[in-house]
Amino acid sequence: MIRIRRDYQPHEMAYVHSEPTHVIWHYICDLIKQQKSKNILDVGCATGALNYFLKDYDYNYFGFDVSKSMIDEAKHIWDEPNLHFWCADWDDFEFEHNCDCMLLLGVLPYADSKYCDNNYVNPFELYKMLVNKFKPRQVIIRETESHDDFVSIEGLESFLKIADHVERFTVDTMLGKKVVLNVVTDI
Ligand SMILES: C[S@@+](CC[C@H](N)C(=O)[O-])C[C@H]1O[C@@H](n2cnc3c(N)ncnc32)[C@H](O)[C@@H]1O
Repeated sequence: MIRIRRDYQPHEMAYVHSEPTHVIWHYICDLIKQQKSKNILDVGCATGALNYFLKDYDYNYFGFDVSKSMIDEAKHIWDEPNLHFWCADWDDFEFEHNCDCMLLLGVLPYADSKYCDNNYVNPFELYKMLVNKFKPRQVIIRETESHDDFVSIEGLESFLKIADHVERFTVDTMLGKKVVLNVVTDI
């Protein structure tokens, strides 16, 4: 079931790969390469910005998002045989491949956000559902640690306990301090 209250438009998400964020994207790509992850599932992928940065690497990318306008734009931008996009809700989406790496980039606060009708009590409950469902070996989480007006992650402590690596970035974006966590699940 599609549970979005407000369909984002691609230009509203352009900041996620604006120049100041590049250092974060390069860090995420290094984490993927270190774990030798090949099949990458990007949950709430928007327009699939990772693909601008993951160069000189052999991978399969699978992105889904509940926003039709984002997925339409992603399909318009990316026309490569290893990149796949679907418009789908995380409760309904079925993934038939081994998931080496699951990306949760700015999506966990949407577990119970006013922007969507998602019904998880908190971001960690959503995280557990996604790990149980897609069984990734590696999970990379990128969140906003603090910001006055925008969506920042509630209950970050639960994620810090399970992460094998945590890196913080203060970059000049409009959206506050970022934290990137790498979780190796042993699945
Ligand atoms: C802040 S954006 C993050 C975009 C991107 N991952 C990035 O790199 O920043 C959150 C995305 O989650 C998507 N989303 C929200 N609820 C969803 C759901 N139930 N299933 C799939 N995607 C969802 C929204 O449409 C939006 O594109």
